[in-house]
Amino acid sequence: MPDAPGRDDRWVGVGVGAVITRGEQVLLLQRANVHGAGTWSTPGGHVEFGESLEDAAVREARETGLHVTNPRLVGITNDVMEAEGAHYVTVWFACDAPEGAARVAASYEMSDVGWFSWRDLPEALFAPFRNFLDEHRSKHARSLDPAPRIDTERLVVRRYEWTDARAFFGAIDGSRAFLRPWLPWVDDHVSVDRATHMISRSRAGWERRSDFAVGIFDRATGELLGGSGLHNPNWDVRSFEVGYWMRADVEGRGIMTEAVGALTRMAFEVLGATRVEARMHPENERSQGVPRRLGFTREAQLRRSVLIASPEPRDQVVWSLVKGDDGIADLPAVRYGA
Ligand SMILES: CC(C)(COP(=O)(O)OP(=O)(O)OC[C@H]1O[C@@H](n2cnc3c(N)ncnc32)[C@H](O)[C@@H]1OP(=O)(O)O)[C@@H](O)C(=O)NCCC(=O)NCCS
Repeated sequence: MPDAPGRDDRWVGVGVGAVITRGEQVLLLQRANVHGAGTWSTPGGHVEFGESLEDAAVREARETGLHVTNPRLVGITNDVMEAEGAHYVTVWFACDAPEGAARVAASYEMSDVGWFSWRDLPEALFAPFRNFLDEHRSKHARSLDPAPRIDTERLVVRRYEWTDARAFFGAIDGSRAFLRPWLPWVDDHVSVDRATHMISRSRAGWERRSDFAVGIFDRATGELLGGSGLHNPNWDVRSFEVGYWMRADVEGRGIMTEAVGALTRMAFEVLGATRVEARMHPENERSQGVPRRLGFTREAQLRRSVLIASPEPRDQVVWSLVKGDDGIADLPAVRYGA
């Protein structure tokens, strides 16, 4: 019998993926003789008629010759592979296979197999596995909450509240000449209203986890001394850029070193940072003093790379502290609050 007019004979399949890890590495195989041939993915394939999803994941994973057990649901992706005319819903399971060597056991479907560091995956990834990684990474990133308040010996470093607008405007207004050479935004702050607007933007940045501006307050008096923040997060790399400014009258007391040190410790401890960097004009000696005292490395001068407080692009120096650096242990002691 002919199909009813307009009926679409394409179909959506159900697949499974088995994510098997050992330490920092994940087991991948290179697909052959199937769609996505040549690309790398975890073991996986179709669900067979009547089979449970877990059994399908374990069966597919055993095609690598490993003894695979304990499938746990970790994600679902909707994988439309337009170019190949394929559409699968893939259900992903983490599975255990702590021992044994993986091999090309079902050679009609795979051409190679190997363990890869999560940080150094092959270029050509099977589209559903790429979708899984994208979802997994952003879900993980979204689940990370920076500490909204950090107490140090002398300071409280915290997210701005609406009530900070007047103090914020006062701090900027009293230090314009001091801040202007280095900060492009100083003269945007012409009123308390503008400061309120800044606070609104900064709170939205926290909500979206795209920018984490903080005020630096004297722990004893509650006075606003300056500002800082973790900016430009790259959640895949887990890197952040720290920025800072202070009132002219509180310079030279080690306040910024303490505040930036606390934020940097929080980035490594709470956000799982791989890298925290600070960027500034090469002539901004006092600004470079902050990362220098905290054990950062001066790693580059990027020539004519930014348009900050100057009509012409100018140079920027980059200081960084990365996971594994000795300096992390010496960052100031902190207490996290809500
Ligand atoms: C950049 C800026 C925050 C640096 O301020 P700072 O006072 O030099 O930095 P700190 O608060 O960490 O203080 C360090 C100074 O205090 C001294 N100090 C005193 N007590 C200290 C303590 N307990 N711990 C550490 N340092 C202490 C240090 O010796 C150092 O002084 P020195 O450089 O003369 O040796 C400030 O100059 C500023 O806001 N500038 C304008 C805005 C700006 O440039 N922002 C950066 C843009 S990239």
